[in-house]
Amino acid sequence: MSTKQQQDNLDNVVWHQHKIGKQQRAKAKQQKPCVLWFTGLSGSGKSTIANLLEQKLFELSKQSYLLDGDNIRHGLCGDLGFSDRDRVENIRRISELCKLFVDSGEIVLAAFISPFRTDRAFARSLLGDGEFVEVFVDAPLAVCEERDPKGLYKKARRGEIHKFTGIDSDYQVPYGPEITIDTAKYNPQECVEQILNYLTENGFLK
Ligand code: ADX
Repeated sequence: MSTKQQQDNLDNVVWHQHKIGKQQRAKAKQQKPCVLWFTGLSGSGKSTIANLLEQKLFELSKQSYLLDGDNIRHGLCGDLGFSDRDRVENIRRISELCKLFVDSGEIVLAAFISPFRTDRAFARSLLGDGEFVEVFVDAPLAVCEERDPKGLYKKARRGEIHKFTGIDSDYQVPYGPEITIDTAKYNPQECVEQILNYLTENGFLK
């Protein structure tokens, strides 16, 4: 659909202002809603850390929701592949989803390779100041390839998968993420502690 068609559609769609808003929901949940956006190579540890962090948040009675690349690609984004264009659309849909979850007062854990800076910037642009926390899950390609938890790097090296991030598709390292965690150096518990410290120091868990 062209931008002009999109604008024409919007001219006939009116935004409803609901009586209960984000502030009220956040207050009831006693937390500051946000998106923790985990970006990094396949095998860097995004899902492992997001999973462990969600358990910790649950123990703290915080309400969170984990959106994970592999799972979302079984449903909402099941029609998308791994071309640059499809990845852009994947992250666009997820960004909009994150915005809705934040509006509902949740702490969202979004774990996606999200290889392109412009797409992560788009996700950030949908949210308010301080609501988007970019977490760069940093591990060298060689380490991710050595871990290869799903055997996908081996397949990519054999040429059985194309456009695999880090092999024949680009990964753009974030500039100035809020948090960088080095999963080659620290174990998952230590990484989660680092993120929890950030959340506490910045008033997300009040
Ligand atoms: S993203 O690049 O569009 O953000 P996303 O996080 O949704 O990717 O999905 C990545 C997951 O899809 C990986 O963890 C991996 O299991 C699987 N996958 C399958 N094919 C590819 C590929 N060509 N490149 C990267 N990941 C792939």
